[in-house]
Amino acid sequence: MQHFSIGTIAAWDRFYRGNFMNSLSGFKSASLIGTIDQDKHLNLAIFSNIVHLGADPALIGFINRPLAAAPHTIENIHSTGEYTINLITANMVRAAHQTSAKYEKSVSEFDAVGLTPVFEEGIIAPFVAESPVKYALKYEQTIPIERNGTFLVIGSVQHVYVDEQLIETDGFLSLADADIITSLGLDGYYKTSFLERLPYAKAK
Ligand SMILES: Cc1cc2nc3c(=O)[nH]c(=O)nc-3n(C[C@H](O)[C@H](O)[C@H](O)COP(=O)(O)O)c2cc1C
Repeated sequence: MQHFSIGTIAAWDRFYRGNFMNSLSGFKSASLIGTIDQDKHLNLAIFSNIVHLGADPALIGFINRPLAAAPHTIENIHSTGEYTINLITANMVRAAHQTSAKYEKSVSEFDAVGLTPVFEEGIIAPFVAESPVKYALKYEQTIPIERNGTFLVIGSVQHVYVDEQLIETDGFLSLADADIITSLGLDGYYKTSFLERLPYAKAK
C-alpha cells in the first residue's frame, strides 16, 4: 500500500490533489437543491456534501463552498428561508451534473439543463419533477467554517414527496429500486444496488 503524507499531497498539482481528496471521504448522496430568489428567478444546483443531522427534529445539513464559488443557493436560502432537496436518478445524471456550471443568477438551471420545476401548495421553492424522492426544508442555521471559508447550512425537513412503491413496510426507503445514484469526487457517478439490511447490532 502506498503512503502519502500531507506534505507530499500539498505539493501535488491542484487538480490532481482535488480529485484525490474529493474521493477520499467516499461515496456521497448527490442531490439537487432547488431555490427561488426575491425576483422569482429559479435556481438549481448539485450538491454532494449533504448529511443527515438527526431524525427528531429532522435536520439535514449541507456544505456550501465559499460564497465566491457557489453564491446563489445559499443566498436564496437566506433570503426566502426555504429550499428543496431532490434525489437524482441515473437518467437525470447528465442534466444534474450540468447544474454545477456557473450560470448567471437570472438564468434558471431548470431551463438550461432540461429539468422540470414543479411547485407544491404552500412551498415557494421549486422541486424537480423528474425526481422520485424529494423534500422541502425550512432554513434553520448557518455555521461558518472559518478554516476554509465554507458553510454548514442546516434546515429542518417540512414536507416529503416519495414514490409510494419505494417505502418498505418498516419505513425504510429502498432508493436503489428507483435507480438513485451516488457520487464520488466532483465528476464520478455510480449506480446503486442493494447488498443487505442487518438487524440492530448488540454487543456480544
Ligand atoms: C458532483 C458535484 C458535487 C458538488 N457538491 C457541492 C457541494 O457539496 N457544495 C458546494 O458548495 N458545491 C458543490 N458543487 C458545486 C456546485 O454545484 C456549483 O458551485 C454550483 O454552481 C453552485 O451553484 P449556486 O451558485 O447556484 O449555488 C458540486 C458539483 C458537482 C459536480
